[in-house]
Amino acid sequence: MKFELAILPGDGIGPEVVAETVKVLQAISSRFGHEFDLHYGDIGGIAIDRYGVALTAETLSLCQSCHAVLLGAVGGPKWDDPLAKVRPEDGLLGLRKGLRLFANLRLVKVLPILVNSTTIKPEVIEGVDLVVVRELTGGLYFGRPKKRWQTSRGRRAVDTLSYSEHEIERILCVGFELARSRRKKLTSVDKANVLESSRLWRQLAIELAPRYPDVELEHLLVDACAMRLIQRPTQFDVIVTENMFGDILTDEASMLAGSMGMLPSASLAGIPKEGHPIFGLYEPIHGSAPSRAGKNMANPIATILSLAMMLRYSLGLGEEATAVEGAVGHVLDQGYRTYDVMASGMTLVGTREMGDLVSAEIVAQSPLSPC
Ligand code: IPM
Ligand code: MG
Repeated sequence: MKFELAILPGDGIGPEVVAETVKVLQAISSRFGHEFDLHYGDIGGIAIDRYGVALTAETLSLCQSCHAVLLGAVGGPKWDDPLAKVRPEDGLLGLRKGLRLFANLRLVKVLPILVNSTTIKPEVIEGVDLVVVRELTGGLYFGRPKKRWQTSRGRRAVDTLSYSEHEIERILCVGFELARSRRKKLTSVDKANVLESSRLWRQLAIELAPRYPDVELEHLLVDACAMRLIQRPTQFDVIVTENMFGDILTDEASMLAGSMGMLPSASLAGIPKEGHPIFGLYEPIHGSAPSRAGKNMANPIATILSLAMMLRYSLGLGEEATAVEGAVGHVLDQGYRTYDVMASGMTLVGTREMGDLVSAEIVAQSPLSPC
């Protein structure tokens, strides 16, 4: 099969982790015989430097013309002025909105061999395997009014948390569907004791539940969820929540897995179902880590695992996705670690070496390979 892919490396460590992921894609191509046409575009700070905007119309239409998008990371101190008219993050937000990627799936799976690389007790995180379904194109990030202005009593600013029934329902459905395909437990996270939008959210979750009788639905306030994630994270299967809550909770949840460098994400334009590939954008959940950029240090695994999600959800290549995940697991089993998950007795490798190891493993697994 032939696939068209948009590749947006972005800023900081983005280009490095994307380059390693492209190597892995080539390994998949040679093992399984697929053809991937790669179309590179600019996003974030690099686009601001080149064109004065974080997302050009060309990049957006490039993405629209492809089967899926792979993104590295955006941002860096160079573009961090709070008074700046354009910010690298605008590129990412514009892409999410412009491509209607309303469902963000963030997987947090603690690999047994990494239980000792976190600051949390191994017995608490052993067996953690959860997904956060974050609403991605609504809420505080996009609500209007959103502005800053001068008043006679000083400066003032406003952001708006607004959701329509349609927006809430479709993301809840993603949560229910995903829970149905996993351990059948859905935790809907809101702040219904304070926020009107959360009360609508909770009501819609209750109304939808009878359509999914096989899924156990629980409601949790976001502050309690933050606590429970650290206290008893194995209790969670699928968490579904609004944009801003999801942003915060997924950074917290990533610490369960030892490093943000391990966690992939998918941003989808529809409800993922077995056998029905849907358009999506795939990126690691970590940022551009400017202080690590250009040093061959960054962990490319989050991006490589994001590629696995792309193969599964947007290209309908489940076996290939499993091959990527298996190769990553095998390389970690052999003791190779980037600095962020390094532990005593392990072998420290750089970004490029990790990419090479995973790619070689994919080719080596091939039933046609001589070994
Ligand atoms: C994320 C990031 C983004 C977000 C930033 C870079 C705009 O933190 O993907 O979690 O807040 O959504
Ligand atoms: Mg974030």
